[in-house]
Amino acid sequence: MIDRKPIRKAVFPVAGLGTRFLPATKAIPKELLPVVDRPLIQYAVDEAREAGIEQMVFVTGRGKTALVEHFDIAYELETTLSERGKDLAILEPTRFTPGDLITVRQQVPLGLGHAIWCARAIVGDEPFAILLPDELMVGKPGCLAQMVEAYEQVGGNLISVLEVPREEVSSYGVIEPGLTDGTLTEVRGLVEKPPVDKAPSNKIISGRYILQPEVMRTLESQGRGAGGEIQLTDAMARMIGQQPFHAVTFAGKRYDCGSKIGFIEATLALALERDDIGPDVRRMAKRLVEE
Ligand code: G1P
Repeated sequence: MIDRKPIRKAVFPVAGLGTRFLPATKAIPKELLPVVDRPLIQYAVDEAREAGIEQMVFVTGRGKTALVEHFDIAYELETTLSERGKDLAILEPTRFTPGDLITVRQQVPLGLGHAIWCARAIVGDEPFAILLPDELMVGKPGCLAQMVEAYEQVGGNLISVLEVPREEVSSYGVIEPGLTDGTLTEVRGLVEKPPVDKAPSNKIISGRYILQPEVMRTLESQGRGAGGEIQLTDAMARMIGQQPFHAVTFAGKRYDCGSKIGFIEATLALALERDDIGPDVRRMAKRLVEE
């Protein structure tokens, strides 16, 4: 195995306005909406930690401060819980060593590529991960951990992919696949939100990336693409041929929490899997469906 620079940093683009979930997201960041009893962002942060990420970079915007509050120490809460003899372990995943959570602001919503570029000074000159919290990935090991394992073998740039029905490809970034070896597929081309008849495959980018720092310089000169936005996919496409580029097919479940149906599916699926409430939720769901 070649010695690669480890992936220590992860960027979380969380500046979005969450318009699809209004009015719920008027005052609360979309990423804090709970799936059962953990906010969406917590799933992504836990996945990153499991993969060995040490430093999390949130690309935030106005009205998103509560995201940082969530990962701070809440003295009043902790004191009250302790006085009542309650276990504080439930708050453990929300703890951060000072300096390990950094925020930068994306001042104007110019697209995912622009959001990532906003983190360039913190990312510096090392490979880094990106996690889109809308995509809730459930697996053992988690999606990013699976990618880090692949990265240790092939290096370069990696994206997670999964197959969707053809008619859904236009909502995503799509890969032009090359040779496949196990879960690894060579990426020959990338296109953001293509029309169904122009899509090079039905393998879509599912919100996890391991990229080399050169992508920041590529983003610097990236013009607007699909939807008039500066697209990460377009910048990545320009790197193909210059550096290794692979897709990892994620072995696990994925929920698109950017849509209401996906969010409800995630909530139900994760609730059903829980030891504490699963059996009750199953009975309740059956009753509701049969009514
Ligand atoms: C973004 C990416 C797209 C990717 C998708 C995954 O699109 O641009 O390539 O497939 O996330 O959810 P968005 O959902 O921000 O439109």
